[in-house]
Amino acid sequence: MKVAITGAAGLFGGGLVRVFSSRHTVFPLTRPDADVTKPDEVREVFRKLGPEIVIHPAGMPDLDACEGDPAQAFLVNVHGTRNVVEAAREAGAEVVYISTDAVFGGKKQSPYTESDPAIPPTVYGRTKLRAERMVRASPNSWVFRVSVLFGPGKTNFVEKGLRKIAAGEEYEVAVDQFGSATYTLDAALKIMEVVEARRYGLYHLSNFGGCSRLELARRAAELAGLDPGRTVGKPSEQMGRRAARLKYAVMAMDALKQAGFSPPRPWQDALAEYVGSLPAFR
Ligand SMILES: NC(=O)c1ccc[n+]([C@@H]2O[C@H](COP(=O)([O-])OP(=O)(O)OC[C@H]3O[C@@H](n4cnc5c(N)ncnc54)[C@H](OP(=O)(O)O)[C@@H]3O)[C@@H](O)[C@H]2O)c1
Repeated sequence: MKVAITGAAGLFGGGLVRVFSSRHTVFPLTRPDADVTKPDEVREVFRKLGPEIVIHPAGMPDLDACEGDPAQAFLVNVHGTRNVVEAAREAGAEVVYISTDAVFGGKKQSPYTESDPAIPPTVYGRTKLRAERMVRASPNSWVFRVSVLFGPGKTNFVEKGLRKIAAGEEYEVAVDQFGSATYTLDAALKIMEVVEARRYGLYHLSNFGGCSRLELARRAAELAGLDPGRTVGKPSEQMGRRAARLKYAVMAMDALKQAGFSPPRPWQDALAEYVGSLPAFR
């Protein structure tokens, strides 16, 4: 298949490019190739390349930046997605949208399923939900909600902590945020399976099992041979962040199961592979 991937210089975009390139013809699109906020640019690029599938992870994923500049967040996440969806339709391509657990309210005590109501308390969550709805207006589309990404190619929650600890600093993380963690390469592989099978729909997608941010950061430090005690847990309210953080956002992967796909491996196994692949911590 011919697959165009937006946000190709990003953390997940890079992982998607790597994985899909193993079986498909991939067109990696960075911001200079096509700024998604510019409809004519996006239309022209899709018209030239003629993709059959467009995967759209490009966006503004920083919760605090979105909270601080709602207009920009709407421009990139909502209007940008509308431009991608419309240009894809004109080019005859189907769309895969990358969304987030941040569409939920965070008040539940058990894993969120795809049928749970989405009531996002943040600007970021609201923009992603609006974008999801635009994509899902076409039945031949996919939305994958992922959470706390880690993987090669770009600094992320896990690598940031390892670098700090290795430099002799402490890594402050929320002690009261419980969710799912997602290895970009595992998630990209699962997306490829689902897309190849043409099983359209809304899917939750992460590595298996829930964890707190503190647990994730500590396990990464252990795996890297660093002192996990230098990862310090703090209540999220005391971290001085602009956007509210969800206390609970574990996702159940019911839709994957119902469609006959196995969930990705447990997060501990994926994390071990990822940390083992980082040259500085091998
Ligand atoms: N990171 C997480 O933990 C997480 C969790 C849940 C869901 N997600 C979702 O996963 C997706 C990917 O996240 P990520 O962590 O990979 O983000 P990322 O590393 O920041 O990558 C996003 C990419 O989007 C590009 N982009 C931004 N504005 C653009 C524009 N106007 N036109 C074209 N490209 C533009 C950026 O380009 P530049 O490089 O030029 O800035 C960047 O390469 C996002 O949709 C996010 O909402 C992420």
